[in-house]
Amino acid sequence: MGPATSQLYARILRPILFRLDPELAHRLTLAALALAPPIAAPADPPELATTVFGVRLPNPVGLAAGMDKDARALNAWNLLGFGFAELGTITPRPQPGNPRPRMWRLETDRALINRLGFPGAGMAAAAARLERAARRARSIRVGLNFGPNKDTPPERVAGDYAALTRRLAARADFIVVNVSSPNTPGLRDFQAPARIREIVGAIRGAAAPGVASPPVLIKIAPDLDDAQIDALCACALDERISGVVATNTTLARAEAGVAAPYPGGLSGPPLSPPARRVIGRVYAATAGRMPIIGVGGIASAADAFEHIRAGASLVELYTAMIYQGPGIVGEIKRGLVRLLAREGFRSISEATGTAAK
Ligand SMILES: Cc1cc2nc3c(=O)[nH]c(=O)nc-3n(C[C@H](O)[C@H](O)[C@H](O)COP(=O)(O)O)c2cc1C
Repeated sequence: MGPATSQLYARILRPILFRLDPELAHRLTLAALALAPPIAAPADPPELATTVFGVRLPNPVGLAAGMDKDARALNAWNLLGFGFAELGTITPRPQPGNPRPRMWRLETDRALINRLGFPGAGMAAAAARLERAARRARSIRVGLNFGPNKDTPPERVAGDYAALTRRLAARADFIVVNVSSPNTPGLRDFQAPARIREIVGAIRGAAAPGVASPPVLIKIAPDLDDAQIDALCACALDERISGVVATNTTLARAEAGVAAPYPGGLSGPPLSPPARRVIGRVYAATAGRMPIIGVGGIASAADAFEHIRAGASLVELYTAMIYQGPGIVGEIKRGLVRLLAREGFRSISEATGTAAK
């Protein structure tokens, strides 16, 4: 996927897709991507290879959650050159999500606002797809992002994560506990340490006897203040959580330099500074001992590199795929190779957290 792919996308595909309702455009794109054959992308340069929370990845650039909620297009993520894909949010039972409209493009900001509320086919459907993919010897590493159903009462939320683990852990290279989507009422309250302990306990208790549960990560919001981040990190270290995904979308508008009347979570470049602040704070609060997946507003190799220098071991993106198309993945990887060489780093892990040092 070279510069020609990006030009083709910008000149032909994007103008067509942007005439459509954002959700329809997304559905059509995903339906097309689901047809991708099981072909591996060309091998990545060795300096991009990295091992994080025990998982070896060919490159550090992953697909962020939300793009492929139901695990429909694994082959495509592999073919497009992602080093891994975070699928979901998957809920135990199927649910329709919030009423429409629930997704908007902010074209001048190259941003999106969504309040989808986890529409999805539920864990049984995701499990069936992942089992089929496993039989075809999939090669891309997969993180499964879990969330509770909207109508699950707060005292049963931990039970939802346990049910998801029982059904899906065997198919995951790592699990992401999503407690940070702004569109499921009350979900962000589960970022409090006591509730994280409860969820992590439920997940560990649900792993099959004798089988180690995959690494468990927590995905957090950019709207936490420093004290909340510090408390969460202390709990994460204490509970031996494998990593933090920072961050989800933001509820901020004016602070992010955006004036838009739509409700929901903002993603894309305006999210980059707040996300980077949280990455830096998590890195400092954990003394670099907790791997971070940096996500939020990455639209270029330079953006990815700044998240890495702030403390990320891996990065992910979503909104840049909408504005720049799939060529962005190769562009970021090529740019990272150049930036590593320019700054004298031999690997991504050498660059991680260097902004703090
Ligand atoms: C339309 C849309 C749907 C999303 N759905 C989810 C989701 O289901 N679960 C989740 O953890 N994050 C979800 N996200 C958040 C992304 O994973 C990511 O954290 C956020 O968009 C910031 O990255 P970006 O600026 O590269 O898009 C969604 C984002 C968008 C734009």
